[in-house]
Amino acid sequence: MKEITFKINGQDMTVPEGTTILEAAKLNNIDIPTLCYLKGINEIGACRMCLVEIKGARALQAACVYPVANGIEVLTNSPKVRKARKVNLELILSNHNRECTICVRSENCELQALAKEIGVSDIPFEGEKSGTLIDNKSTSIVRDETKCILCKRCVAVCANVQNVAVLGSVGRGFTSQVQPVFGKSLADVGCINCGQCIINCPVGALTEKSDVQRVWDAIEDPTKTVIVQTAPAVRSALGEEFGYPIGTRATGQMAAALRRLGFDKVFDTDFAADVTIMEEGTELLGRLNNGGVLPMITSCSPGWIKYIETYYPEALPHLSSCKSPQNMAGALLKSHYAETNNIDPKDMVVVSVMPCTAKKYEIQRPELNVDGNQDVDISITTRELARMIKEARIMYTQLPDEDFDAYYGESTGAAVIFGATGGVMEAAVRTLADILNNKDIQEIDYVGVRGVEGVKTATVDVTPDLAVKVVIAHGGSNINTVMKQLVAGELADTHFIELMGCPGGCVNGGGQPIVSAKTKMDVDIRAERAKVLYDEDSKHLKYRKSHQNPSVIKLYEEYLGEPNGHKAHHILHTTYSQKPKLY
Ligand code: FES
Repeated sequence: MKEITFKINGQDMTVPEGTTILEAAKLNNIDIPTLCYLKGINEIGACRMCLVEIKGARALQAACVYPVANGIEVLTNSPKVRKARKVNLELILSNHNRECTICVRSENCELQALAKEIGVSDIPFEGEKSGTLIDNKSTSIVRDETKCILCKRCVAVCANVQNVAVLGSVGRGFTSQVQPVFGKSLADVGCINCGQCIINCPVGALTEKSDVQRVWDAIEDPTKTVIVQTAPAVRSALGEEFGYPIGTRATGQMAAALRRLGFDKVFDTDFAADVTIMEEGTELLGRLNNGGVLPMITSCSPGWIKYIETYYPEALPHLSSCKSPQNMAGALLKSHYAETNNIDPKDMVVVSVMPCTAKKYEIQRPELNVDGNQDVDISITTRELARMIKEARIMYTQLPDEDFDAYYGESTGAAVIFGATGGVMEAAVRTLADILNNKDIQEIDYVGVRGVEGVKTATVDVTPDLAVKVVIAHGGSNINTVMKQLVAGELADTHFIELMGCPGGCVNGGGQPIVSAKTKMDVDIRAERAKVLYDEDSKHLKYRKSHQNPSVIKLYEEYLGEPNGHKAHHILHTTYSQKPKLY
């Protein structure tokens, strides 16, 4: 590749052709502020925070989109540059709702951080503000125009990463806004509630719909038994909210914190993930043996479910009929647990802590109930749990590691890896291989299905006579690639597909702690958080296969009967239907 030689802040530098000034500066340990820039996703030069001076050029240039050229001399810290950045920031702030003290993004706001770094102490530009709407009609996402800075990161993520494209720019100049199509509410367009817009918003313009007060009210109600369950991926990231490095395992301190918040029982969604494997694996075997619809596609991710219902309804017969682990847990608590503990399910409140905003949508689906009792009553995100812990003034970092409560807190390594892309597939294959070979297979690290590559295909020799062909994809664009192949008949020889709505799977879900765009330039948070789960699987758990979970074995023996049997089907399975795009 052609090399380019130039000067940056007086130092000679040589980089490959096509390198931007921002990238070159980074290679030389020079920090240039950014705001609208999202590496590889939103490189549009909109905010002008990254302006730099090029000697001899008439205008300052946006470093994030300006490729270096032979012989240029770049200044990243000249008085002209500093002044321009400050004025630009003052202009952005002049149109921003600056109620920072009551904003959930305070202290994790890229705009607030920049104002401090650049030394803005006064806003000289005051006057009329554009954008007044607060759209909170969605079950999952609140959009606040008064805080939007028009960086368009959400627009790019929704369109380019998730292939949903329900957000866009409207108007010009002062009337410019980022809005859903035709100015509708997010609730009334084909939004899949994944929350990727939230975790990529630099400010508080997009947030989850908070259910924290409803959880406090339930805990305080003496007539209610309040049970909490936590998804696998929450433990991969909760610690980040309390200053731990990305990639720190939070399992024990999370259980301890939940107990101190006042929940009557602290259970693990991982238990239900093991049940999911029992049900989904049996369903797959049934389809393989009885000529059912193949490939079968996983149904754990509510963002993915809304995606297929909205954009590929013709492929619905491919979906497993299994409820998600969140809802399997809720359904079992409202049936088996309620019966065995003499609790009226109407006096029970099941709270889920999820890495996901689409779970808030999922729990409200009318079909997800057992005998009229909603499976899960309240779903909060990892971030909301962190806020509750802070509000209760629990000293999280000082907490000892504690275990989940018995029975519904028991799980296996197969369950915990559900939180990473490829994890559901690997968990299913571990059980399928044991059942079909009728032995306890020791080689169970199916590394071919791991990793953050967008679309993975593998052939797994489950028995000497059965090679199962699998496909794994995560994030809407990759899912769309697979779905286009599926409807075109190109995956006829594939048996099993795992699809997750968010890039990297649940570890990078829309409800997880928000990491700045700058940090994401250096760290692949998807891989770091996934490592936590694979470590928990291989180093911390006694059993690594779902069918070996002693409590799950007991549940089937004493209550459910056969996997995929009548009772299991009644409690643990569901149906799907086409959803309108509404535009
Ligand atoms: Fe470069 Fe926004 S214009 S970061």
